Amino acid sequence: VEVNLEEQFEAKVAKDIRIEPKDWMPDAYRKTLIRQISQHAHSEIVGMLPEGNWITRAPSLKRKAILLAKVQDEAGHGLYLYSAAETLGASRDQMIADLHSGKAKYSSIFNYPTLSWADIGAIGWLVDGAAIMNQVPLCRTSYGPYARAMVRVCKEESFHQRQGFEIMMTLCNGAPEQKKMAQEAFNRWWWPTLMMFGPKDEESPNTEQSMRWRIKRFTNDELRQRFVDMMVPQAEFLGLTVPDKDLKWNEAKNGYDYGQIDWDEFWSVVKGNGPCNKQRIQTRVKADQEGAWVREAALAHAEKRAQRERQ
Ligand code: ACO
Repeated sequence: VEVNLEEQFEAKVAKDIRIEPKDWMPDAYRKTLIRQISQHAHSEIVGMLPEGNWITRAPSLKRKAILLAKVQDEAGHGLYLYSAAETLGASRDQMIADLHSGKAKYSSIFNYPTLSWADIGAIGWLVDGAAIMNQVPLCRTSYGPYARAMVRVCKEESFHQRQGFEIMMTLCNGAPEQKKMAQEAFNRWWWPTLMMFGPKDEESPNTEQSMRWRIKRFTNDELRQRFVDMMVPQAEFLGLTVPDKDLKWNEAKNGYDYGQIDWDEFWSVVKGNGPCNKQRIQTRVKADQEGAWVREAALAHAEKRAQRERQ
């Protein structure tokens, strides 16, 4: 029976028919999805922190309102994704406990500090740009709930990316000091953004199987290359210099060659030793503790109402 089920599963995936929560699936497929979706959810939640830092300091009421909305969108994405992971049998309490204990991974990018207002522009432009590059293909991922969640997430991400680009454009068309701030933020965020796509294909243990299962539709290096090719003309439009002396157009491959990524830095951040890892986790744990009374009160209230209805 097992063989038959496995064949049916493989045939569905090959025909791009979505796998749904109650369908049979190999244990390893379920495990990989829980891993990727929960990491993705954690990234959305931790991703609120570097930008949340700037809500009170955004330079105008309009900028504050936009940033507030954006950070709230990220919370929504996180909740969607935790729900998608729950459809696979993962427990939300366990996922959150793993984030708080430092066991769970989340995107390396959110362990860097946001030093100036220009960093908020750079995050929207580059980090959300990379997120879209990675997530638009996930709208066609083989697991139904994950694919459907990605549709709305990508629409919101594309708004985020434009607001980031618009901040960069305003700074680049402003005073020389503002242009300088934009260039410095670009210098800080460019390389860590390239790392978001994950290790090189040869060093990515999960890519091959995830491509076969159509969880991933492109490899890490394919998406990274597309991202570089998309961003270089945008940087030129802004009048910014890509901080990579090896960046060069390659006619033969119809794309840019780019310099060496510092993989030691990448793994150090992934392992918990980036500039802000500890601070990020501490902030999450504190928020969870300080919100405990709200959850308890909500539960008590729901219980009281249920009791009243029973009477
Ligand atoms: N930061 C932290 N960890 C990473 C990163 C990164 N940038 N890139 C890869 N890793 C981890 C992987 O999670 C994996 O760890 P694990 O095996 O212990 O779970 C390990 O490094 C090896 O990497 P891969 O074999 O390449 O892993 P995978 O096939 O899962 O590819 C990728 C990584 C591309 C991030 C994939 O999981 C993915 O597309 N995820 C969904 C998108 C996402 O999570 N985006 C988060 C940032 S965008 C945002 O939230 C705004």
